[in-house]
Amino acid sequence: TPRIFSGIQPSGDLHLGNYLGALRRFVEMQDEGTYETVYCVVDLHAITVPQDPERLCRMTREVAAGFLAAGVDPERSILINQSRVPEHAQLAWVFNCVARMGWMGRMTQWKDKAGKNAEAASLGLFAYPALMAADIMIYHATHVPVGDDQKQHLELTRDIAAKFNHDHGVDFFPEVTPVIEGTATRVMSLRDGTRKMSSSDPSDASRINMLDDAETIARKLRKARTDPDALPSDAAGLAGREGARNLVNLYAALSDTTVDAVLAEHGGKGWAEFKPALADLAVGRLAPIGEEMRRLLGDPAEIDATLARGAERARAITVPILERTYDILGMVR
Ligand code: TYM
Repeated sequence: TPRIFSGIQPSGDLHLGNYLGALRRFVEMQDEGTYETVYCVVDLHAITVPQDPERLCRMTREVAAGFLAAGVDPERSILINQSRVPEHAQLAWVFNCVARMGWMGRMTQWKDKAGKNAEAASLGLFAYPALMAADIMIYHATHVPVGDDQKQHLELTRDIAAKFNHDHGVDFFPEVTPVIEGTATRVMSLRDGTRKMSSSDPSDASRINMLDDAETIARKLRKARTDPDALPSDAAGLAGREGARNLVNLYAALSDTTVDAVLAEHGGKGWAEFKPALADLAVGRLAPIGEEMRRLLGDPAEIDATLARGAERARAITVPILERTYDILGMVR
């Protein structure tokens, strides 16, 4: 059976972008039953930028609770936090020696995050995509459901795997296929339709968090930046209207339909009518998940135990793949 791997950073609140772009697909692909699924809270990725230890610990449990509340079943999927399966970091070192500085320097996320002051960025932030490649390849995973922003990292994963295979004359690491599907692969900020919704945006009003209550969700959507014009009657009418497009996309994704179907129904309406309808839809979808997350977070020891069981199952896969990798490299053990 083909294997799926994907992960989410515990560096901030889980938000609607994470849910629609990633988490929801994780559950769908688990439920399809045609894949073996491994899902991960990537705590080692989070520390590429400074993290408060107490908060990191809390956010790791919160993201794990988010996976579970959204429908990841720890019996059918393997659910882990990255640091607990040491082979991720071990293979990442090998991949640090495969990836070229030039490849890493061309990553747009690195350029965005390091900004003008790359001298002050951590070495880990630069190497971030090599750890991500290792996350996937330590399971020989072939399919990776992600949002649009991870596409370049998955292309790099292919390049690293192919170079390793080529350098050693082996056909060991598989080719990875990104799974970037649906109407919500890039959910935008509610304050600025040209920037993606992100947990690192200082404005909490820019995103809907999985733990927001109904009132907060309605307020954030009411204040979401659009333009004064009514909804158009077809997708072509959204050209140049980024804020409007984002809300219509959200409506389509949350109601499992297409943008055209949403506009066929709501075209001509004003925002004062459409936004409350969107809020109802979002609350209907998120409130039960938020409620379950809160319940799970009431028993952190149970979450930790679930992650420990996941790590044990994961290592049955990762230990032999690391051993084989070391054999190929000529490591004496
Ligand atoms: P992270 O933690 O930034 O985001 C987790 C997932 O959510 C998706 N996502 C979005 N999708 C749509 N619209 C948005 N506004 C939005 N914001 C985030 C991301 O695309 C991602 O799928 N590097 C990864 C974590 C990672 C990983 C991996 C992923 C580490 N190792 C291996 C896949 C495979 C990251 O920072 O995602």
